[in-house]
Amino acid sequence: KGLRVSDKGYLNTAVMRSEITYIDGEAGVLRYRGYPIEQLALHSNHLETSYLLIYGHLPSKEQFASWEGEVLHHAVMHSEAEQFCRSFRYDAHPMAILTSAFAYLGSYYAEANPSLQGQSLFTKGDAASLAVMDKQIYRLIGKATTLAAMAYRVRQGRDFVTPPTGLSYTGSFLYQMDHLGEENYTPNPVLEKALDVLFLLHADHELNASSTTVLQTGSSLVDPYSAIAAGCASLYGPLHGGANEAVIRMLISIGKPENVPAFIEAVKKREKVLSGFGHRVYKTSDPRSFIVRKTADEVFKVTGTDELLETAMALHEAAMKDEYFISRKLAPNVDFWSGLIYRAMGFPLDFFPVLFAVPRVVGWLAHWRQMMLQEGGVKIWRPRQIFVGPPKRDYVLIDHRE
Ligand code: CMC
Repeated sequence: KGLRVSDKGYLNTAVMRSEITYIDGEAGVLRYRGYPIEQLALHSNHLETSYLLIYGHLPSKEQFASWEGEVLHHAVMHSEAEQFCRSFRYDAHPMAILTSAFAYLGSYYAEANPSLQGQSLFTKGDAASLAVMDKQIYRLIGKATTLAAMAYRVRQGRDFVTPPTGLSYTGSFLYQMDHLGEENYTPNPVLEKALDVLFLLHADHELNASSTTVLQTGSSLVDPYSAIAAGCASLYGPLHGGANEAVIRMLISIGKPENVPAFIEAVKKREKVLSGFGHRVYKTSDPRSFIVRKTADEVFKVTGTDELLETAMALHEAAMKDEYFISRKLAPNVDFWSGLIYRAMGFPLDFFPVLFAVPRVVGWLAHWRQMMLQEGGVKIWRPRQIFVGPPKRDYVLIDHRE
């Protein structure tokens, strides 16, 4: 009684106040903690931006050195966790491995688990509790790349690589992925930078489906490992983090640029979806898509051009001048071009959502931390519904049912 009709898909429901990420969907503006995404992509790096997203300010040199040191130190995995990752089938989807592995990690850190502690430390905000919270943040961000590299290598039957010292966060990830034992290995700097920019662009995007899932889950005061696993599960779908994979599958199915008009017609008849186009908030091009497009050209200079690039360009051009897309304000989102970069760098297709999830761990943690420390404490997210099912009826024994 007294409830209003639900807002399906939360088109117009703001569930909280946030200081983290600002989007103006009409103007195509994205800012992390006030800083334009274009400036961060140009001058910052993923780990520095991660600090900014979580703690609200750019770090000093000392703060950055300490932050980077902690995150990279906590990248190392317990050998039993390695056994867990090894237990998956060779053809398991890497997102299934990553999602399960985050939840599994929760079994290691009793100090983070309110079921074991009797209460959550994370809502207290005193120095000792904040230090425990920080430690879980270092672990989750540090181990994200290690788990992702394990998910990649287990399917190839290859040994895992211990996170190295002396490389950047992204460099360490690339090292763990494909290092074949050579000494003094350093990842190609152009590719390392490109992946780092993609990580930075994917680090947060305010209350998307997966961040909302992390908050919804975290609102029960569950441990952060379980909340992050829930975020991973939400991100896995093709309407969200699976879109980069879906774009490449779509481009492969289209094949040559001359097949683009037929594909566009199929989209207009609702037989197909143009993956990598459209966004709940942006009603113009996603500002990240321009940066990704430019980054793709830099990557192609190293790797050679992808044969699907021409098809992607033809598709982009056709959609941008077609009335169906113009009238619905559908334009490229961050994932339209990102898959081409991942492909050129040699990542397997089904690994693409992992490359979205790893950096998004940062945004999930920023939102989770903000909610835990919000004034007045955490309120469990428990929406109401409007019941439209049958009225009361009496149970019928199975022998008497029609
Ligand atoms: N291809 C064809 N038609 C589309 C598309 C698309 N990609 N996106 C939206 N539409 C149509 C939709 O059918 C609807 O038409 P009508 O008004 O005639 O019924 C209209 O445009 C409005 O779309 P909507 O489905 O109400 O929009 P939404 O805000 O609910 O969905 C979206 C947003 C991202 C799920 C959707 O645009 C989509 O499915 N895009 C393709 C998947 C994709 O690229 N996802 C990645 C999003 S960005 C990265 C991330 O944050 O995950």
